[in-house]
Amino acid sequence: MDEEYKIDFPSETTTEGKVKIVVPNLKAYGVKPSDYAPSRAPVFYNPVMEFNRDLTVLAFQACQRAANRDITICEPLTGTGIRGIRFAAEIQGVKQVVSADINHRSAALAKHNIILNELQERVSVEHKDANRVLSDHGAPKTRFDIIDIDPFGTPVPYLDSAIRALRNKGLLASTATDMAPLCGVHQKACIRKYGGKPMRAEYCQELAVRLLAGCIAAVAAKHEIGTRVVFSHCSDHYIRVYTEIGYGAQKADESIKNLGYILHCFKCLHRETTGKPFAKNLQCPECGAQMEYAGPLWLGKIFDQQFIEQMQKENARTAFRNNAKITKLLALTKNEADAPATYHVLDQVSQNLGLPVPSVATFLQTLTSNGYLAVPTHFNSRGIRTDASAMEVQKLMRELVAVGQ
Ligand SMILES: C[S@@+](CC[C@H](N)C(=O)[O-])C[C@H]1O[C@@H](n2cnc3c(N)ncnc32)[C@H](O)[C@@H]1O
Ligand SMILES: [Zn+2]
Repeated sequence: MDEEYKIDFPSETTTEGKVKIVVPNLKAYGVKPSDYAPSRAPVFYNPVMEFNRDLTVLAFQACQRAANRDITICEPLTGTGIRGIRFAAEIQGVKQVVSADINHRSAALAKHNIILNELQERVSVEHKDANRVLSDHGAPKTRFDIIDIDPFGTPVPYLDSAIRALRNKGLLASTATDMAPLCGVHQKACIRKYGGKPMRAEYCQELAVRLLAGCIAAVAAKHEIGTRVVFSHCSDHYIRVYTEIGYGAQKADESIKNLGYILHCFKCLHRETTGKPFAKNLQCPECGAQMEYAGPLWLGKIFDQQFIEQMQKENARTAFRNNAKITKLLALTKNEADAPATYHVLDQVSQNLGLPVPSVATFLQTLTSNGYLAVPTHFNSRGIRTDASAMEVQKLMRELVAVGQ
């Protein structure tokens, strides 16, 4: 590739984390308010995703600390090259980063940025299809410790080759921005891509994470590989799932035991999980209405407390612009790690009961003082995870409002 690459479109130099990056000048590409400048530019770049990239640096550093040796990373949908460059510049113990992009201008700009940061020794970029790059690394001894899939829309087309290109105990990080299918607006697309039915419940962002995690588990199991979700989040317009893999048929068998369904009653907000087949016209055990379901999806944990603690330690060592936002997200996810699946959105509960909405702090207090586990969730600032049933939640909300009157 030409190292004297001349950038032939409006561009500017920006800084992020510890690196300097030439990016498209987005002001030149967002003419109308409806224009999404990052996609209109000749090379994709979205400054809003800095938060996503910061968290990725922390998660990958946590993974490297656990491995306790030098690691390799592949980032086959690189855009400007910013991720791979940040990984090499900011994560300790990174031996090699392999980046790629199918867009020749991306690959050329990424190369330019690698040189700008003097990282040619440890970061390479290929002008290739992501699946080709991953397949080139599918054989033992050529595999990566970490793979970051950061696509337009869904990561599903890359999951199979990514799983095959990961070493035992490797980490797969996947972004999905196709929230309309994952949240049930385009149900058929979700079933086609992720192999599970979505549902437009108030906790659909969590269902989105569980659908992607379930899909990853199913893909890995075909290769006799088990999966464990160590961290996930939903921010802005996307979800992100970090999955550790483990080689072995037994591990795959164990991990697919986590696949199941979430049943929901839209009339009384009762919800339950099941790993077993169930009757199609299942009636709500609380009110008799017909329940809907989402799945198959991942019913196992979607956050690992220890992993998040390590990310917190790494965050304390950095000075990211997003530090306060990261601190908040890590505290919330760590706190909700061991709480039950799904959450209650107070506005939805109040609306169902025709009552005024209490504050989240007040209702958390009500639940805990009645002996229930109750924690906020990062998925929704008005949401509460609790081991109280939907009926108990409603009873307590009625009582709370009665006392207040
Ligand atoms: C969302 S952007 C990546 C953003 C980048 N990771 C970042 O953090 O700024 C997705 C990128 O994937 C590239 N791409 C799309 N299809 C691809 C494929 N089949 N193989 C490799 N790259 C592809 C696009 O050209 C685009 O640069
Ligand atoms: Zn019901």
